[in-house]
Amino acid sequence: MTALEQAIITWIHLIAAAVWVGGSLFIGVVLTPFLKTLTDSVEERMHIMVRVGRQFNKIAMPALIVLIVTGVYNSYELLGRPDLLLSTSYGTFLIIKIVLVIALIITYAIHVRIIRKDIEEKFLFAQMSAFELKRLRKKIIILGETMVVLSVAILLFAALLDAGV
Ligand code: HEM
Repeated sequence: MTALEQAIITWIHLIAAAVWVGGSLFIGVVLTPFLKTLTDSVEERMHIMVRVGRQFNKIAMPALIVLIVTGVYNSYELLGRPDLLLSTSYGTFLIIKIVLVIALIITYAIHVRIIRKDIEEKFLFAQMSAFELKRLRKKIIILGETMVVLSVAILLFAALLDAGV
């Protein structure tokens, strides 16, 4: 791979990371507290969040796929060298980063699944009991927070890889 090709792959990886991490942080740190100032109704806030989440998924899911493809491309040679993977700090950080990415994918998949179409419709058409609503909201919050924490931890390992610690 030439230096220019390498730069383009890193650029694409960085854009996708900005979309994924920036978008998730925006939802968690800006939008959620803002919605609390907009309305006291938990149901109304959830309506907006479900719709925002669905809209965000349209770029978040492709961004995650791009991150995985460019990430694997970036580390292709090393992934084929188990001796180096296990004996260098770069290899160890890469393994930890990949494990965190797998945990992120699983969390995201559960998150998408619990707000699948039928549940969303039940919620949007107010056919959900207060108890069901509370349970759904709690799950969404825990999964969302886990995704943000995992994404930020992944960035730490990206920085360690980049610095060659
Ligand atoms: C949510 C998923 C991910 C995020 C947010 C993320 C983020 C980043 C960021 C910000 C960089 C720094 C770019 C640089 O300076 O080189 C980076 C580099 C890198 N990432 Fe990822 N990444 C993700 C997934 C992956 C995956 C799945 C792999 C491998 C299978 C991977 C492998 C790499 C490699 C090898 C580098 C280059 C490190 C170096 O400079 O040597 N990434 N990543």
